[in-house]
Amino acid sequence: MRCDEKSHSMTPQIKILRTVSQVRQWRLECLLKQQKVGFVPTMGALHKGHCSLATQSLKDNDKSIVSIFVNPSQFAPHEDLDAYPRTVDDDLRILDSLNADGKKIDALFLPKISEMYPNGITTEVSQQRGAFVSVKGCSEQLEGSIRPQFFRGVATVVTKLLNVVQPTNVYFGQKDAQQCVVIKNLVKDLLIDTNVVVLPTMREENGLAMSSRNAYLSQETKDRSSIIYKSLKRGEDYYSKAKGTVPSKDIIDVMNETLQHEDFEVEYLSISHPDTLEDLEAVEPGVGAIISTAVRVPRENSTEKTRLIDNIVLH
Ligand code: PAJ
Repeated sequence: MRCDEKSHSMTPQIKILRTVSQVRQWRLECLLKQQKVGFVPTMGALHKGHCSLATQSLKDNDKSIVSIFVNPSQFAPHEDLDAYPRTVDDDLRILDSLNADGKKIDALFLPKISEMYPNGITTEVSQQRGAFVSVKGCSEQLEGSIRPQFFRGVATVVTKLLNVVQPTNVYFGQKDAQQCVVIKNLVKDLLIDTNVVVLPTMREENGLAMSSRNAYLSQETKDRSSIIYKSLKRGEDYYSKAKGTVPSKDIIDVMNETLQHEDFEVEYLSISHPDTLEDLEAVEPGVGAIISTAVRVPRENSTEKTRLIDNIVLH
């Protein structure tokens, strides 16, 4: 188990729901009892970041449901869909161990691909058929510039999941800052009746942001990858010491000094508006910014690299 909480029961108490109609039935029962429902969508391989979202959901709601679904449409054909860690038994034990205000996770939605994509799905966009959701304006830059189909896949699956679960509150992590902006815009524009809650990034002791993809890294690479957060903190320090408007270029220069590392490849290091994600020439107190980065680091026992993303919010 990777979360701190201890499990007291041997058999998980969580209801495992595998079909859309089972979730709808579960949701109807909550509605009839006028219960608030919290929802945490995930792709599994759960860690403390996921647990912090689930624990907040327990505190805010009467009933909480988590989904685990490795969503094919957000992976490009050359990406790690097949290799993505799948650890459902461990995940179930972790979820079952969570407890807040005397409440436990009530249900886990664990759909098959055919349940979420009744018309089938391929990672090849040109061959996809059916309905997809794009959130224009905030999906193309940063992560979207490197992974062009990513946010269309995320927005599509999150729309489907929200249609099924109809949660009172839905929880996302600041770790995926652009995903949060895309989802807030999606919910606003498609008039989806849910409250989007964004919670802080959970980190390892050395500052490395927790991620399911950290499982691809050796301990040595994880240690070295702590420079990603160190460089974000250096950028933040430089900005706060200036106590005024600072050109983005100056902040990036300071960060680049820390981030350069022999076999790390910085894909982007950007300073963007916190709501629109537009590139900012300068950071102004009151407006603030998100500094975000993606760095490719060596993967254990492989010639391929793993992309790590991280960000920090300036106020
Ligand atoms: P996944 O990467 O499993 O993440 C599920 C949720 O956990 C996301 O909201 C993510 O931002 C949050 N999370 C991940 N690492 C975190 C950390 N270190 N601290 C706090 N929260 C963290 O994001 C996805 O799945 C998918 O794109 C999904 C939204 C489920 C759609 O398929």
